[in-house]
Amino acid sequence: MQRKGLGVAVVGSGRMGSLRASLAAVHPAVAFLAVSDADRDRARGLAEKTGAQFYSDDNLEVISRPEVNAVIVSTSESAHALPVIQALELGKSVLVEKPIAMSLKDADHMLRVVAQTRGDLRVGYSRRFKRSYLLAKEQVLAGRLGQIVGATLRAYNSRAQTLQVLERSPDATPVTFGMTYYVDIICWLLQGNPVVEVVARGQKGVLKAAGYKADDVTWAILTFADGAVVNLGADYALPANYPTFGANSRVELLGTEGVILIDDDNKDQIVYTERGIPHSYVPGHSLNTAFMGSTASGDWAQGDFWGPLADETRSWLDHLATGRPCSLTTAADARRTLEITLAIEQAALSNQTIKLPL
Ligand SMILES: NC(=O)c1ccc[n+]([C@@H]2O[C@H](COP(=O)([O-])OP(=O)(O)OC[C@H]3O[C@@H](n4cnc5c(N)ncnc54)[C@H](O)[C@@H]3O)[C@@H](O)[C@H]2O)c1
Repeated sequence: MQRKGLGVAVVGSGRMGSLRASLAAVHPAVAFLAVSDADRDRARGLAEKTGAQFYSDDNLEVISRPEVNAVIVSTSESAHALPVIQALELGKSVLVEKPIAMSLKDADHMLRVVAQTRGDLRVGYSRRFKRSYLLAKEQVLAGRLGQIVGATLRAYNSRAQTLQVLERSPDATPVTFGMTYYVDIICWLLQGNPVVEVVARGQKGVLKAAGYKADDVTWAILTFADGAVVNLGADYALPANYPTFGANSRVELLGTEGVILIDDDNKDQIVYTERGIPHSYVPGHSLNTAFMGSTASGDWAQGDFWGPLADETRSWLDHLATGRPCSLTTAADARRTLEITLAIEQAALSNQTIKLPL
């Protein structure tokens, strides 16, 4: 029953940082909240909205506040490393958004600092906190599938959201920012069984026409150390008005004693309106028909935010306040997931079989 009070700094006051800060602001263990962003007005706006006691356009200023013992880094994909390292060096616990970094060099630097400081770094793979995936993990842990010999995981999203991500992070691809969730899921389910080989193919289309290096579609086959074969696929360039707010997937786990099928396309919850529903991620974009519940992070309803990112944030704050274990991805696991996504890109680009570790 021991409780530790928390002071939280949120670095990056964009879409995810705003959600994390709103959730931290109402968590009972949190007594102090500070927010920062490279864009000072954005940090000020979020501080006003959440009642944060402090804001700045200087990340280190919020990270090093004496009241702060927990730091959430929600900056763009390529700007994760520096604030994470600064926070770890000051002895603060850190949650960083996925992917841990865009390069193995940055990820390895972060892992070295974790080891040197004996730090606590977790990575926000919030898909784990969607109930169906938590339940799948539970069934696997109980041994109900026997030996998992294969799996298929595929994810779809519309180009409307993908183009938003590529605009801020042109080096990212649907593999490194989207398929990465499903690499995390399958490696979590097959924990202790590393990927040893990757083959993949990709095809270019509308993302290339928009000036980016990313493929529209990528299909990969991963082989795990015990021989399990796993098919991963993603098309993040479906037409802009495809009725999704972000996450549509299908996950099938095939074991010697059991099978799990997760239909996560959200086709069972549809809303249609002549008035249009604003897309939660893409400013100015609205849909007439939409799969409800297809926003990856979750949804606002009745004044609260509900869904995977809410449960993940609460679980992390509970973990820090009470010391109870949590299922958030560790830094080492996130580094492994980054390596696999980079291998998938390399395999698709070269048409070669890629052996892991790289
Ligand atoms: N778990 C999820 O459901 C989920 C969903 C979407 C995005 N993400 C991840 O969250 C992260 C942020 O995505 P987002 O959608 O919030 O993006 P965003 O563009 O809405 O916000 C990013 C913010 O970071 C700020 N920023 C950039 N560099 C900075 C720096 N060096 N210092 C301070 N501020 C800086 C930008 O000004 C912007 O306000 C990404 O890593 C992304 O992949 C996670």
